[in-house]
Amino acid sequence: MKELIRKLTSISSPSGREEQVRAVIKEEIASSVDEIYEDKLGNLIAVKHGGKTKVLLAAHMDEIGIIVTDIDEQGFLRFGNVGGINPQRLVGQRARFTNGTIGVFGVEKLEENEKLTLSKLYLDIGARSAEEARQKVMVGSVATYYHEFCDLGDRIVAKALDDRIGCAILIEALKRVTKPQNDLYCTFTVQEEVGLRGARTAAFGIEPDYGIAIDVTGTGDTPEAERLAIKLGHGAAIKVKDNSLITHPKVKDLLTGLAVKNKIPYQFEVLPFGGTDSGAIHLTKEGVPSGVISIPCRYLHTPSEMVDMNDVEAAVRLAVAVMETKLD
Ligand code: CO
Ligand code: ZN
Repeated sequence: MKELIRKLTSISSPSGREEQVRAVIKEEIASSVDEIYEDKLGNLIAVKHGGKTKVLLAAHMDEIGIIVTDIDEQGFLRFGNVGGINPQRLVGQRARFTNGTIGVFGVEKLEENEKLTLSKLYLDIGARSAEEARQKVMVGSVATYYHEFCDLGDRIVAKALDDRIGCAILIEALKRVTKPQNDLYCTFTVQEEVGLRGARTAAFGIEPDYGIAIDVTGTGDTPEAERLAIKLGHGAAIKVKDNSLITHPKVKDLLTGLAVKNKIPYQFEVLPFGGTDSGAIHLTKEGVPSGVISIPCRYLHTPSEMVDMNDVEAAVRLAVAVMETKLD
């Protein structure tokens, strides 16, 4: 599974430009599903039949990134954010455009006590003039972090584990499931990082009876961290609440019951910020009972996100358990 994760995280696919990661996922799951299609916004929907009840399982394909807003006379690029980018974390980091162009983030001189904002940063792609820069990128070109996957043993580090790890878990669950008991709509969504947009149209089209997102969550287990009862290596996290969703009690009880029954390590998650695709899914039409299987992740939205493979395995097993449990 690490090889799949390496493959998925090494692709640059920011929100709105998910085509590269979509192609890889499509190839990975083609032989494990009954039907596969793309909707008009680009969500990849893989269907596996097994019963009357429709269960939408969602993982987002997109990742945070930057978008070129201007190219100056010397060939330096100015940019805006695509999703939650923290300017404090960028200087010295690298970005890669979807066409392969690479650049390094630099910063202008700041006045004393001046706050670092995105407008003070630039991206240097090695161009000596605006003309040279324009041969590689243009206003509107998008890039993501450029950082390699590292295998630290039980723990792995990569950019875009948010949410390629969710994609990998859903792919692995689809490969492992042998007796699906529901109609499974495994959906790899677009544009989550800019406001849960793909999940909204996917859910509208599918009209699911239940919705379950698979996505990362923060942890409170690093030095001087804010208090948060989520720890790396302590199991899959069953979301109770975040800023986009209060998990439906039926779904919370289902996930908890399945974890207990199958001896899958789990922990409860109450996140005081953020949201996932389930935030959009549960508000579809007359409402869809929804929840989230979360993967604890350190250093969220940095080029070096970290997860524990034991939690990943727990999340796969929990997803398979949902798929193989008859719901009504
Ligand atoms: Co995110
Ligand atoms: Zn995410």
